Parts: sequence; structure tokens; C-alpha cells
Amino acid sequence: MINMKDIIAKALSEAIGISQGDVQALFTQPPQPTMGDIAFPCFQLAKTLRKAPVRIASDLKVKLDLRLDDASDPFSRTVERIEAVGAYLNFFLRRDTFAVEVLRASIAACDRPGASDEGAGKTVIVEYSSPNIAKPFHVGHGFSTFLGEAIANLFEYSGFDVQRFNHLGDYGTQFGKLIVAWKRWGDMEALKKAPIQELTRIYIKFHDEAEIEPELEDEARHAFTRLEQGSEEEMKLWHTFREVSLEEFNDTYERVNIHFDNMNGESFYAKMTPEVVRLLSEKGLLVESEGAKIVDLEDQGLNPCLILKNDGSTIYATRDIAAVLYRDRMWNFYRNIYVVGIPQINHFNQIFAVMEKLGMPDPERNVHVAFGTVRFADGVFSTRKGNIVLLDELLDAGVAHARAIVEESHPGLDEAEIDEIAEKIGVGAVRYTYLASGRERDILFSWEDVLDYEGDTAPYLLYTVTRCVSLLRKADPVVLKRLVEYRDEDAALLVGDDEQRVLKEIVRFPESLDAARTHYEPSMMIRRLMQLARAFNTFYHSTPILRADDTALAAARLALAQAVERTLKAGLRIAGIEPVDRM
Ligand code: ARG
Repeated sequence: MINMKDIIAKALSEAIGISQGDVQALFTQPPQPTMGDIAFPCFQLAKTLRKAPVRIASDLKVKLDLRLDDASDPFSRTVERIEAVGAYLNFFLRRDTFAVEVLRASIAACDRPGASDEGAGKTVIVEYSSPNIAKPFHVGHGFSTFLGEAIANLFEYSGFDVQRFNHLGDYGTQFGKLIVAWKRWGDMEALKKAPIQELTRIYIKFHDEAEIEPELEDEARHAFTRLEQGSEEEMKLWHTFREVSLEEFNDTYERVNIHFDNMNGESFYAKMTPEVVRLLSEKGLLVESEGAKIVDLEDQGLNPCLILKNDGSTIYATRDIAAVLYRDRMWNFYRNIYVVGIPQINHFNQIFAVMEKLGMPDPERNVHVAFGTVRFADGVFSTRKGNIVLLDELLDAGVAHARAIVEESHPGLDEAEIDEIAEKIGVGAVRYTYLASGRERDILFSWEDVLDYEGDTAPYLLYTVTRCVSLLRKADPVVLKRLVEYRDEDAALLVGDDEQRVLKEIVRFPESLDAARTHYEPSMMIRRLMQLARAFNTFYHSTPILRADDTALAAARLALAQAVERTLKAGLRIAGIEPVDRM
């Protein structure tokens, strides 16, 4: 496609006398495929050529049509025919040449279609997941986790040096409360068995008891101060809470195959807050307000950013400012991306505005990638109405539903294999759902939708992959041999409507990767995968593949299936969804 575009641009550039690049910049896509593959609007040429655009289009057609008669001209091997419609020149590509070009590119890219080294030498920090110590890892953190991983993968695929960060919530006055609560009501056995459950229990108990006994709040404040000062007893408890929570989080990360390069939590940056205070006051940005210290952001249309509370302690925002400074110093990042929910838009706007005031070079390198909330259709988690739903519960439920489907469709399969397939399908289906719609939209989970094998779902994509795999598995050795040899003349046979539609979707996959990456919107890639899978299945149902008329045609169609398989697998992997070979 790229090549074919160049050849057309060259012909136009020769005919008009403007540069090839200027021609390329004007190219558009006709609104309908029946109107051609590439459109060239002539409006802008009217001035230079002193002719009406419609006239330019028709003159160019006459000129270029002559070249189509010359069989040795690369232009005639690229273009089937040209139509002048109003001020537009519409080009219809030669289907055989197009098929050859797409298959060649697919073979060259192998299992990394659309990969590039565009980002070489640039470091991108993607901060995601970031659950809070001693608190449930809930479905909202799941959103950040899966979206963040997909964004990290997108950047990595384009050659960026990606640093996966997890900004653990491991600091703050709530740890004073936990320490007090633990000393009174903590149960070591329970902590070992289900750490976060036990820590949540005592935390809730603290709040209940503090209603009756308000002195507890003071005690907690003191405990936190001692923790800040590094007192041994408090530090030891805090370490334990952190360790046991992390162990639980790590089980989940292991399950979904996500690994971080950097797990520095808020406590790590808390140590650097004195520098934040110093820098801000040196720049005269720190203002006194009711005993507290703030940065005024009125000129940016934002409310003031609190830096120090009136007792001199730092807050969440102070630690985030410290983190940006530290990350820039250590990684000199090209992008510092925060995958955090919509409710924190104001928080990040404040942080970024403070960075700008501090004189950070290119502050727009900091990006907040916001996302919506997760809701459940009636009955999905009805027994726990009003409660927090844990990510693991959601994954378990997805796997259980997937298991029922797998069991039904493969009665003979052994347990271990059912487990493995169900885990992949169930987890994949949940991840897909997090990524498939625009990220700022809320998600409504219902198992019928999420696991619909015909719907816009992971199972549909996964099923399409297995279809490609099984075609290749069942192919006649003679056909396979010819497929491996690859010949342009075979690829040139893929001129049918349905084959061409599949080829066009394959071509658009790399574009979708760029769009998804630059908009931090994996759904743009997912949508493309879905359209590719739909096009392939239409082709699969309409066209004999293994039973094609002759070996050459069978090999060509199989090569198409292989290209689809590679594209779908690459996209699924970027989405963090593991393909299965059968289901
Ligand atoms: N721990 C926070 C939460 O659960 C998210 C942290 C987001 N990242 C940050 N750098 N502030 O809401």
C-alpha cells in the first residue's frame, strides 16, 4: 500500500510539477470503497495552475490514462483505473498488485506486524495499577491495570524504552490508624491467611470505635508522627502491612502476567518532599493560607494546590510533585503517563500546573490518561450489592462462566486443559471489556455480553485465531510447502471482494497502533482487530480455502489466513490477551 501510494504520488507529481510530498499530503480516502481506494482533491491546485479544479481533475485523468496503456510502466501495474468526479481524481488500485504488496509486507513483518523502532532512545514512564496498601484491589484498579499495561505495550511495540511504574499508596495518616487498630484488635493468624481482609476489618473497626472513643484519633495521629520520625515499632508494623499486602497484589499481577519495573510507592517520595517545599519557596510560589502552605493556581483556573497542612505534614499532591521531579531527573522521560481514573483529573491538573510554575521544561510531557468507572448489570454481583468488588472476584467469575461454556463444547477434554483454556478465555474476556470502548466511558459488565462468542468480545477474536490456526494445521502438505515458498504470482490471485476486504483490514492495523498510542486509547486498535476478524470470517464462509480449485489458490488463501492470524495475535498480545490454540 505504502509503495503503491508512492507510485501514484510520483505520477501525479510529474504530471503537475509539485513535489511528491505535497501530493501525498493531499491524498484522502474516498467516502465509499466503490468510489476508489485513493482520492486526490484538486481544489488547492487552482491557484498555481490557474484553472478550475474540475478542469484540473479531468485534464489529469486524460494525461494519466495514457500511462495506463503502457504495460511496462510501474504506474500501470499499480492503478487499475482512474475516475474524475467533480474536483476529485479517484484511483482504483490493481487488486493483484495490492494483494502482493500486503502479503509481502506481512511475511516480512512475521509475528510483529506494525512494529517499529520509532521510539528508540526515548523513555516513557507508564504509571498504572497503583493500589493502596491494606486496602482492597478493586475493579477500579483493574481498569488502571489493564489499560496501563496495554498502553505500555503499545509504546514498547514502537520501540520506546518503557518503564512500568506502580505508585503504591503506602503512606498517609491512615497508617497511624492501622497501627493503633492492629495493636488493639489485630489477629496474626487472620493476617497471614487473608491479609487485606484482616487489615480492612481492623480499619473499619477503628472508625466504629472512634465514634465512641474519639481519643483514638489522637492516638492514631501520634502513631503516624512516630512512623514519620522512623520509630522502630511503628516502622516494623508498617513494613509488615506493606509486605503482606504486596504479596496479595503480586498474586494478582502474576495471574494476569503483569510485571513492574518500579514499585516505589508514596512513602518513597515522601522522603523527597522537603526539596519540593524548598524549591517552591525559593521561587516564591509557596503562600500561607490559614496556617497551611499552598500554591496559588488561580491564573490557571484551578483551585490552590495544598502542599503542607497546618501541622506541617505533606499530602498526596506533595508526594506526586516530588515524584515528577525525581522521575525527570532519573529518567529524563519523553512521557510520564498516569493511568488514573477521571475523579483525579483536578489533582493531576494541579500537579502539572505546579510543574509548569516550577519551570519544568516541556511540562506537556506529563500526561493524565483518565478512565471511567466500572458498573455491573443486575444480578452479576447481586449478593454483594453496595460492596466493593475485587478484581480477583471479577476474574474468577469470568473464568467460571467461561468454564461452563468450554465444558459444554468439549465434553471429553481433561480437567487440567479445561482449566487452562477457561482461565485464558475468562481473563481475556474481562480484559477485553476494559479496553474495548473509549476509556472515558463507563463499563457495564454482563456475562452474556462479555462472553458472547458472536459479539464484539475477546472470545470472538480468540475463536477467529483458532480458526486460522486449524486451517494451517489441516492443510495438505503440498499446499503448505507452496505457502512456505511464497510466490508473488500466487498472492496475485487474491482479487475477490472478500479477500480484498481482508487485505485492506490488515493494512490498516499498523495505522490503528499509531492512533491508539498517540491517543492513549487501546480501543482504537481493538476496533480494528474486530473489523479484521469480521472480514476474515465473511471470507472464510464465502470462499473455499483448503478446498480451493488448485494448489496455488489454496496456498494464497492460506497465506491470507496466516497473515490474519499473525495480525490478530499481535494485537491481542498488545492488549494483554493471550491467544489460545483451541477453544
Ligand atoms: N493509589 C491511588 C488510588 O488508589 C492512585 C495513585 C495514582 N497515582 C498517582 N501518582 N497519584 O486512588
